[in-house]
Amino acid sequence: MDFELKALTLADAVAQKCDALVALVTDAFGGGADPVSRLVQDARKSGDFDTKPGKLLQAWRPAGVSATRLVLAGAGDGSGKRIHAAVQAAVSALRTKGVKRLVVCLPTDAPEGAVRAAVAAAAEASYVFVATKSKPEARELQRVTIAVPGPAADHKAAFEAARGAANGIEFARELGNLPPNLATPTRLGEEAKKLAKAHGFQCEVMGPKEVARLGMGALLGVARGSEEPLRFIVLKYQGAAASEPPVVLVGKGITFDSGGISIKPAPEMDEMKFDMGGAASVLGTFRALGDIRPALNVVGLIPSCENLPDGRALKPGDVLTSLSGQTIEVLNTDAEGRLILCDALTYAERFKPRAVIDIATLTGACVIALGAVRSGLFASDDELARALHEAGEAACDPCWRMPLDEEYGEGLKTNFADMANVAGRPAGAVTAAKFLQRFTARYPWAHLDIAGTAWKGGAAKGSTGRPVGLLVQYLLGQQSSAGAKAGSGTRRRKAAA
Ligand code: BES
Ligand code: MN
Ligand code: ZN
Repeated sequence: MDFELKALTLADAVAQKCDALVALVTDAFGGGADPVSRLVQDARKSGDFDTKPGKLLQAWRPAGVSATRLVLAGAGDGSGKRIHAAVQAAVSALRTKGVKRLVVCLPTDAPEGAVRAAVAAAAEASYVFVATKSKPEARELQRVTIAVPGPAADHKAAFEAARGAANGIEFARELGNLPPNLATPTRLGEEAKKLAKAHGFQCEVMGPKEVARLGMGALLGVARGSEEPLRFIVLKYQGAAASEPPVVLVGKGITFDSGGISIKPAPEMDEMKFDMGGAASVLGTFRALGDIRPALNVVGLIPSCENLPDGRALKPGDVLTSLSGQTIEVLNTDAEGRLILCDALTYAERFKPRAVIDIATLTGACVIALGAVRSGLFASDDELARALHEAGEAACDPCWRMPLDEEYGEGLKTNFADMANVAGRPAGAVTAAKFLQRFTARYPWAHLDIAGTAWKGGAAKGSTGRPVGLLVQYLLGQQSSAGAKAGSGTRRRKAAA
């Protein structure tokens, strides 16, 4: 889908020929003498329309408006979050009406994040999955013009970043939605290679032999139960001097999680195809980096395999030796995500990273704790936690910090190895994070548990592409501080006077 940014007031926009014109109306809307403003004023007076976020009033061929359809969309206080909701509601209402060209008019008092929110919401609401349909219905919306009242140049950087992020989000959604017989570890490796070729990234895709040679016993252990060969993907984006320490993103790439020998119940097991949402978010973020090309270095690591039961599969009681040398007793083969991640987290050390962020559909317990609204955020570093939290707010892709007190790790003790892979049921999202933390002593680390946010179930079943928006926003914020030990709590020493 094409996005374009244009400087247009509401009075200019009424003359735009398009299939639909969406006017965002905030509480503070004053408006002028143009037909849309007059309509807003009248409709507010009559009570047929108000500025509550998500409220819509639709008209067909209204007088004085060149667009075929006009949609007034309430945008409340005009914050990014409200604009996101308003555009999403408007674009959803226009679906299946054959709208190809759309103009979205931002309010005059639009804040900094308005362009970003409008682009993200328009892309999100118009997405259709067609890859495995025999008679695909094409996406209707083809061109979206974001109309800003002031000079377009003021919004250009935000617009371009938003467009890149939207492409990345869509890429992640598409991969997430693919069925597990197509989205195999091999396919993820091929997608990484394709991305690398298109955008000039470095890329290495390792298979079982290379991973065995490295000594990634935990990843190898999980992969044992499947006929599909595992992959370990390394992607590198270089946007700054080679000497700049990179941010490392690590994405859980379980392309299907049956639970293994500790098998899951049948209902909704199909949704475990989304267990590669972390991996998809890393690939989606790289897709965005390729477009936006910010000035920093980023490494992406994706351990990927299936978790299946088989004669050779991991058994409860098996002990694995991880790449770090630490041994792990597998008490539940369904706690496989932490096993593949721990080896990737150890591998991350070699990049001497300024920060490592892992992204994983890690625990059902996180869904219970935070639902589908916020991803779980765990961090060993306050500055990194703050930056990620802020990025989530700005990108309408929010997260919430969870604790990592030492006491939560006590349940991982076992008589037969350095640690077990599960503790009890209480605080399951936290004990999973405590497990990962044991592999992250050498760098500032954060973990995003996206089990509740990476996909939706029910009638709207499908990947959300989260948290690509958050990650892109965070990475863009790391550019200015490149050179500083950004994301780490360590204060820089002042040079002696
Ligand atoms: N991929 C699942 C986590 C998950 C479950 C995400 C349901 C979304 C919905 C993960 O591998 C898993 O199975 N975790 C177990 C851990 C348990 C065995 C300690 C879980 O959450 O039940
Ligand atoms: Mn599992
Ligand atoms: Zn899993």
